[in-house]
Amino acid sequence: MRCPKCLLCLSALLTLLGLKVYIEWTSESRLSKAYPGPRGTLSGPTSASTEPTLPANLSARLGQTGPLPSAYWNQQQWRLRALPSENSAEAGGCQAWGAAAAAEIPDFTSYPEDLRRFLLSAACRSFPQWLPEGSQVASCSDTNVPFLLLAVKSEPGRFAERQAVRETWGRPAPGIRRLFLLGSPVGEGGPDLRSLVAWESRRYNDLLLWDFLDVPYNRTLKDLLLLTWLGHHCPEVNFVLQAQDDAFVHMPALLDHLQALPPTWARSLYLGEVFTQAKPLRKPGGPFYVPGSFFEGGYPAYASGGGYVIAGRLAPWLLQAAARVAPFPFDDVYTGLCFRALGLVPRTHPGFLTAWPADRTTDPCTLRDLLLVRPLSPQDSIRLWRQLQELQPQC
Ligand SMILES: *[C@@H]1O[C@H](CO)[C@@H](O)[C@H](O)[C@H]1NC(C)=O
Ligand SMILES: *[C@@H]1O[C@H](CO)[C@@H](O)[C@H](O)[C@H]1NC(C)=O
Repeated sequence: MRCPKCLLCLSALLTLLGLKVYIEWTSESRLSKAYPGPRGTLSGPTSASTEPTLPANLSARLGQTGPLPSAYWNQQQWRLRALPSENSAEAGGCQAWGAAAAAEIPDFTSYPEDLRRFLLSAACRSFPQWLPEGSQVASCSDTNVPFLLLAVKSEPGRFAERQAVRETWGRPAPGIRRLFLLGSPVGEGGPDLRSLVAWESRRYNDLLLWDFLDVPYNRTLKDLLLLTWLGHHCPEVNFVLQAQDDAFVHMPALLDHLQALPPTWARSLYLGEVFTQAKPLRKPGGPFYVPGSFFEGGYPAYASGGGYVIAGRLAPWLLQAAARVAPFPFDDVYTGLCFRALGLVPRTHPGFLTAWPADRTTDPCTLRDLLLVRPLSPQDSIRLWRQLQELQPQC
């Protein structure tokens, strides 16, 4: 033998490797034995911490470790201590942030109009509630804290979508609370939906309305204002589902899954259809266009905004993170950034399908394992709801 030491090294290495595999195998099988997921659908474990923390320097957390790109967002995030608020003493308050962005981004005038508008007001985040007379959105009472709050992002004119949710998966049920998140019913250039929305609000008491323009680029406002509302009116809620109004939720399957989660996962939950390798789209005029002068790098792992579930106790943490994460135009990517700032990772579940081909609604047996699908028309939601009621036991 020419190299007895090599042989020794090799066998030691192999032993270590075997030990590692054994340890991983036993700890994983322990986990799945202790917490059998409904139909074995628990998603794979990740090695991240399960308690939120917010370090003083967020740059490393947000992946900014290499040379600093010159893009505006990256530069801002590097320098940002906290976003100016409405009442901040800084000259101009929240408006100043947008004005500075417009002045400092060299090709700002070539940005699409909605992105320009977003940036101009992106740091302005507190808006009053729009509460029509006679309507009331009750707080969660001490005796009736919901297990799951359904927070559905809608828009004032989408009456049919909201009604379909009320008639199907958003029906009143023990432990469940339903709320729709909306901006102002006045809109830009009309029509004036104030009296219709006021009637709806009195009839159902499930509309949370705020006085800002309800456009897709303002969806992050709904997230942040909901988190603030939760802190005041529903701090003990276990889980919050954030969904679009064209989503369909298979409630029994979702509730089974949430109830079976290991407690450590449940405490820091961020669950949905997770994108891990997403990058900004660079086609001017195309959907989700992000100019290179605004943002460089990849997106954080994030759960698709079509629908995801978070742990209720994270609400104050997310608000703290949001004060220190530079504004980003897409609500779901921004939520991903805030979770990343807290050191928490999203968990993916194959039952969340946020780009679901509608023709699949015809096969009832595939439905059983679904948790959330979209987009569905109000009529398709009602049809799917009926199919699920009639689901045969052989499925
Ligand atoms: C923040 O972290 C980054 C990346 O680790 C580092 O380069 C930078 O110097 C830190 N900034 C401060 C103010 O400590
Ligand atoms: C969001 O709402 C605010 C307040 O109504 C408005 O000033 C801003 O322009 C809106 N954002 C977009 C992108 O339209």
